[in-house]
Amino acid sequence: MPSAFHKTFANVHGDVRGSVVSMATFVRVAKTSEVPPGEGRVVVVQGHPVALFNVEGRFYAVSNVCLHRGGPIGEGMLDEAVVTCPNHGWEYDVRTGANLANPMARLRTFEVRIDGEDVFVGA
Ligand code: FES
Repeated sequence: MPSAFHKTFANVHGDVRGSVVSMATFVRVAKTSEVPPGEGRVVVVQGHPVALFNVEGRFYAVSNVCLHRGGPIGEGMLDEAVVTCPNHGWEYDVRTGANLANPMARLRTFEVRIDGEDVFVGA
């Protein structure tokens, strides 16, 4: 069951000249067992509906709002890494958010972290 629990992870980027540390807030949205491989669900992250998918054990999160007419992406059928919008069939790669017919059209993607049995999505 999703909860209001938040966690902050430090992202460290850098090279030999130094590093930059940025902080992102991640929201616990599900248990890993609640989204089996090949399935998805709709979660809410800081007020945004987000579609969370499990592709062969790896989790991905994209906007739940289809770029066509706002259909619920998280309720679409997942075939490997491709989800089909349940409204009119637009297809997206959940790893990148890219529309298959027009890769320039992309759903917003969200970073996903796994901590134990918990799935966190960053916003
Ligand atoms: S709303 Fe998604 S394909 Fe039309």
